[in-house]
Amino acid sequence: MKTKIFIITVILSLFINLSHAGEGMWLPLLLSQLNEKEMRDMGMKITAEDIYSVNHSSLKDAIVLFGGGCTGELVSAQGLLLTNHHCGYGNIQKHSSLEHDYLTNGFWAQRMEEELPNPGLSVTFLVRMEEVTVQTLKGVNDKMSQKMRDSIVVANNKVLVKAAINGTHYSAQVKSFFGGNQYYLFVSETFTDVRLVGAPPSNIGKFGGDTDNWMWPRHTGDFSMFRIYANKENKPAEYSKNNVPYQPAKHLTVSLKGVKEGDFTFVYGFPGTTQEYLPSYAVDMTALQDNPIAIGLRQQRLDIIDKAMDGDRLTRLQYSAKAASIANYWKKMIGETRGIKRLDAIEKKQAFERDFQKWAQSNTEKNAEYGQLLPSFGTIYSAFVPVNNAYTYLTEGLLGIELVRFANSYANLVKQCADKSKTEADIKKTAEQLISSAVAFYKNYNTNVDKQLFEALMATYTLSCESSMQVSVVKETAAKYKGSIPAWSNDLYKKTMFADSVRLLSFLSGFERGDVRKIEKDPAYILATGVYSYMLNSFAPIVNSFNASNDSLQRLYMAAQMEMQPEKRFYPDANSTLRVAYGNVKSFQPADAVEYKWFTTLDGIMQKENPDIYDYKVEPKLKELYNLRDYGRYADADKSMHVAFIASNHTTGGNSGSPVLNADGQLIGINFDRCWEGTMSDLMYDPDQCRNISLDIRYCLFIIDKMAGAKRLVDEMTVVE
Ligand code: ARG
Ligand code: ASP
Repeated sequence: MKTKIFIITVILSLFINLSHAGEGMWLPLLLSQLNEKEMRDMGMKITAEDIYSVNHSSLKDAIVLFGGGCTGELVSAQGLLLTNHHCGYGNIQKHSSLEHDYLTNGFWAQRMEEELPNPGLSVTFLVRMEEVTVQTLKGVNDKMSQKMRDSIVVANNKVLVKAAINGTHYSAQVKSFFGGNQYYLFVSETFTDVRLVGAPPSNIGKFGGDTDNWMWPRHTGDFSMFRIYANKENKPAEYSKNNVPYQPAKHLTVSLKGVKEGDFTFVYGFPGTTQEYLPSYAVDMTALQDNPIAIGLRQQRLDIIDKAMDGDRLTRLQYSAKAASIANYWKKMIGETRGIKRLDAIEKKQAFERDFQKWAQSNTEKNAEYGQLLPSFGTIYSAFVPVNNAYTYLTEGLLGIELVRFANSYANLVKQCADKSKTEADIKKTAEQLISSAVAFYKNYNTNVDKQLFEALMATYTLSCESSMQVSVVKETAAKYKGSIPAWSNDLYKKTMFADSVRLLSFLSGFERGDVRKIEKDPAYILATGVYSYMLNSFAPIVNSFNASNDSLQRLYMAAQMEMQPEKRFYPDANSTLRVAYGNVKSFQPADAVEYKWFTTLDGIMQKENPDIYDYKVEPKLKELYNLRDYGRYADADKSMHVAFIASNHTTGGNSGSPVLNADGQLIGINFDRCWEGTMSDLMYDPDQCRNISLDIRYCLFIIDKMAGAKRLVDEMTVVE
């Protein structure tokens, strides 16, 4: 008996020890301690110090957080930066009009003077990071409430941040890791003069569109180029004509050598959010409750928008970015829920929880500390699930109506008008700001499309959202119209001034305090503020109290999981801080009898070509190059033009645009997506099914050089063959 237990323990700890090759998003600071050996065993030839160093320039100095939600990398000594097309999309779109349709036709600055500024866009470098757990948790104890704890943590962090940036132009942040069991300080440098240098036409940069999104085999040329500008001292500065190209401490070397199956690769970037250590209840709520509701509501929006875009070029220009963002997570959620089911992730978590419970009850001390954890999770989740469902109907349904979001942005003006301390001049100023945001809003707004959205979403909301948790003003108004949503919407869109740009702009241009009554009486304003105040007054207290209980349980559960598995190497969940994921170039079997090869080629683009479908048109110039097989030095050894490849790196949203590097730390690709079968990796990673998708850097350079004729940009880079 004893030996049997012993053997099981050995097997178990072996299993636990072997974290899946590929799984994990690791802190650059800890690579030398936790990962370097494994990385070298897997083929890496550089050192952890080459990847992250505070004393010397290292690869980290070539990586930026791009625009808040993506990653970018420096590829020249002149501040030239690569990221994804879908990361630059919003800015490319802002420069586009029917006359200069850069989104459709692409854009290439022929000279630096032609590079286009992007107000509001910034990039951020990490200067250094440091663990500050002890300082952050000073004065905190296990007896105090989560709220008390949070306020002490916030106060301590304020002091740390202040000291870290004192006398510099840097900014700093302390971020929580392992559910509040560890804290790290991040000091960073942000540049705000970032200009658009080039983007391929949509039929390359977005080839395959939302049909191919999240899928393999993939042929999207998903890249765009920007340049960081700085002042004469090479420091961040607001946009100015006199700014000069930024000279980074490090830029990446680009390799044209290509990759082979099995090659070591790593991805260096800013993954946004993962939740790998949740209890089964939480995964159940996300995958089986929340996702299906959101998927259904997004499906309704997409059906309407896609149809409108198909018929009209202007609508396509106005709604393409919106549709892409709705579709992106719609599809992600479908993949995630399927992946969770296929992996039996909930059952796997439950099995772990049974072991956990046994362990937690193995002695009185532990039992006192952890014995009630899982039952408590069970209690709070079962109370929260219905609330969460209703909340999702609101955020994904009611807030999917543009009119609701737009009209609510006038609440501040209304408040100011009621505030005696505000002068007429203050009010004028606010009205002027609202004019410029209204102009931007209407540039991409079609009343007819929005009215259809209202009808579809409102119908679902009133029908499917649990009645006792429906927004009161929605219930009342629907009742007034005897449940006829079309009658309501006809009235609403006719009466409201918010759906009519001419009316609203003329109203605002002469706005005086007394006019506020017109806003307050507007039916869209009444609806919008009703929705938002319901969120604030009815949902927020419940959600906040759930979050507080959940945070404190999750912190304890995380600590307990680490205590229970002392041999296991834990990686922290993604939280938009700089991470390294590493793995191998690798094919996979997505389904019974199906084998996915690890790379795609230009031949595949030609196979997918369909001149009748917007997303599958092939650029004539690209076809010409293909027919001549004119790939120059960008061809693979197999003579074909490789477009994308997959590998087992553990990535998530935010990793888009991240450099994919080879064993020598050279740039071989740009990460842009994951395979659909593996999108549950945000909740549970599966080495068999999780693959990140990267653009082959040779295809990117081929497009810049041969297709766009922007050789000046390739010449700026450090290229090795
Ligand atoms: N799925 C990728 C990511 O999450 C790409 C999204 C952009 N492309 C699109 N067709 N919506 O960001
Ligand atoms: N496409 C995602 C992004 O934009 C990457 C992913 O979710 O794998 O960051």
